[in-house]
Amino acid sequence: MSDGKSGDPDRYAVIGHPVEHSLSPTIHAMFAEQTGQHLEYAKLLAPRDGFARTAGDFFAVGGRGLNVTVPFKQEAAAWVDRLVGAAREAGAVNTISIEAGETKGFNTDGLGLVRDLTENHGIAISGARVLMVGAGGATQGVVRPLIALGPAALTVANRTVSKAQALVESLSPAAGSSSVAACAPEAVGGPFDLVINATSAGLEGHGEVVPAEAVVDAVCYDMVYSTGPGARTAFCDWALGAGAADAIDGLGMLVEQAAEAFLIWRGVRPDTAPVIDSLRRATAPAA
Ligand code: ATR
Repeated sequence: MSDGKSGDPDRYAVIGHPVEHSLSPTIHAMFAEQTGQHLEYAKLLAPRDGFARTAGDFFAVGGRGLNVTVPFKQEAAAWVDRLVGAAREAGAVNTISIEAGETKGFNTDGLGLVRDLTENHGIAISGARVLMVGAGGATQGVVRPLIALGPAALTVANRTVSKAQALVESLSPAAGSSSVAACAPEAVGGPFDLVINATSAGLEGHGEVVPAEAVVDAVCYDMVYSTGPGARTAFCDWALGAGAADAIDGLGMLVEQAAEAFLIWRGVRPDTAPVIDSLRRATAPAA
């Protein structure tokens, strides 16, 4: 690992399809500057059927680490030589490192969400009634670190109820004293303390993913984000209008999961607050 300013920088990238709107290069460039690490971080567009080839070529020519984004997180879990910690349970990888020729897959999304909720926003998960909307890859990546904090109840609501049921069944061994349940979005009871949107409905501009009663007086969290002063995601916008106590988007989660990846690669954890502030002030369109 190169940490001086001499020699070629260590090379990292985010691999995805599409990848052009990713903020990860901006975030890691800020981390590198802040911590004095000598590295470069690029965007790596892989064809939809070309993850293994593109990732393999990157490491073959000396790449030191990859972040993995849509749609390759599950494929990355099957591709790496070894799965570490949360990546094994989630079956999804968002961070790959290489050591002595061996690729290791990590998943820092769950920790990123938990850190943003608990440390940046002071939200207690322990004892809370939590509603998770969505049961796709985004939920899979975060739900176990969330339940490890001991919510009183975790309800998973999904348009395709069978997916929520399968997820809840797989969670039961880790649930401890938390009660876990699955249901259709229109059937959610309440009240909830925290409602997390992990659906991709907002990408189609659709914010109302559960009945309004579910979000009244709850803190709402959208795992997608928007940047720019005053910009709001479709879910945050809808939730505030429906009576939510607060609505937070996933920009902080994005930066926190990146900081965990940076720690894995470089052995130093950057200060996330100035990076979140800087991105929040930026006027780039939502990605
Ligand atoms: P991701 O990796 O972003 O989670 P995914 O695995 O395709 O992507 O999951 C998308 C999630 O958003 C799913 O929970 C999906 O519901 P289904 O399982 O029923 O498909 C949910 N979703 C997508 N569009 C939606 C919409 N318009 N309304 C409600 N839920 C939606």
